Amino acid sequence: MAELLTQPGGALRGTLTVAGDKSISHRALLLGALADGVTEVSGFLAGEDCLATLAALEQLGVSIARPSPTDVVVKGVGLNGLRAPTRPLDLGNSGTAIRLMTGVLAGQEFDAQLVGDHSLSQRPMERVASPLRAMGAKIETTDGCPPLRVSGGQRLQAIDYQLPVASAQVKSAVLLAGLYARGETVVTEPAVTRDHTERMLAAFGLDVQRAGLVTRLCGGQTLTGTAVSVPGDLSSAAFFMLAALITPGSELVIENVGLNPTRTGVLEVLRRLGGNLEVIPAANDVSGEPVGRVIVRASPLRGAVIPAALVPLAIDEFPVIFVAAALASGRTVIAGAEELRHKESDRIARMVAGLTALGIDIDEQPDGAYIQGGTLQGGAIDSGGDHRIAMAFASAGAAAAGPIRILDTANVATSFPDFVSRARDVGLSIEASA
Ligand code: S3P
Repeated sequence: MAELLTQPGGALRGTLTVAGDKSISHRALLLGALADGVTEVSGFLAGEDCLATLAALEQLGVSIARPSPTDVVVKGVGLNGLRAPTRPLDLGNSGTAIRLMTGVLAGQEFDAQLVGDHSLSQRPMERVASPLRAMGAKIETTDGCPPLRVSGGQRLQAIDYQLPVASAQVKSAVLLAGLYARGETVVTEPAVTRDHTERMLAAFGLDVQRAGLVTRLCGGQTLTGTAVSVPGDLSSAAFFMLAALITPGSELVIENVGLNPTRTGVLEVLRRLGGNLEVIPAANDVSGEPVGRVIVRASPLRGAVIPAALVPLAIDEFPVIFVAAALASGRTVIAGAEELRHKESDRIARMVAGLTALGIDIDEQPDGAYIQGGTLQGGAIDSGGDHRIAMAFASAGAAAAGPIRILDTANVATSFPDFVSRARDVGLSIEASA
């Protein structure tokens, strides 16, 4: 089983870029497939999650060329041009892939089955199936989880839907099904979640109305293929921000990273913990998304109460935030983050177990944790096959008192295949073994 081994080390220095944004890469493929004309994607994340979306679209009859690992050319088939798959679509480890794809498949003439790996097969899908059924779709889950069976040939009707959970994946699934529905689909979120789908639909020429927490779109509109330049993933950059903040003498410059305000909660949280993060936004958006440069300097961290309002804006960065809090002076309170239990692993349980194993005093709560900052000892932790748990502990390695051995790390390749080499380039002492 794949492992990572870190050694305590010195300051991290240098300039780096990180792998392409995962959320944007999935959406570029999906919208490119449903568009009329060609979509050229650059900066694509060649991670396993996005490659699962790519393979599923190929099974649905879309031709996709890859002139290089990060350049993808999608020959759009139009809204009604997908073909029936001949076998179940395997979305691997990816919640985004299965949920967005379910929204698209709800509006097709053909049947499809969607499956995933062990982790994905335990993740909640009724949150997507239920609003899609209200639109007229026919979807069966397996005890609320994948495998899913979507029966085609249903006439979809627009709905006015209040999301019960703050989930961009559910919002996106409903909006994508809304492309196939009669009437105007309206989605209201309980809190702001990432808005890449809305931005990209607009970039493909759609009329998407947005006001506060409400998004509206009319069915039957045509998407027009376009060029999509994918910025670096702020969620991947967060591991390097953490490593630099906690390792004395460090300074890292992270170039061309996405700065969409629905994703930048991690910057705000790390600043509340005392982190010195300088953000230099680029003058213009790229493919409808704000981008820029982040400069991170080692900082003495102090505990803080993390406002629940920031949780959806930093939802994927909590493994990083847990580690930062573990190395801060004083106590940190994380609350209102129950959704972390439904990610690639139960991230509250995994972080509590991992930090406890490394000598930190942490008190698990149903929706978060109380973390008393201290010294991180060396030791062994089990990532539970969760890429972000693995990379968060790997980033902690330089500031730990001894080596950290991280088990079950193959899934780092789902979101950041060259994490280890980029980490080594900036001075982290880390080795991977198969
Ligand atoms: C994502 C949305 C988030 C996030 C996931 C990617 C997306 O999930 O955790 O990694 O691309 O829409 P939820 O919307 O379910 O919270």
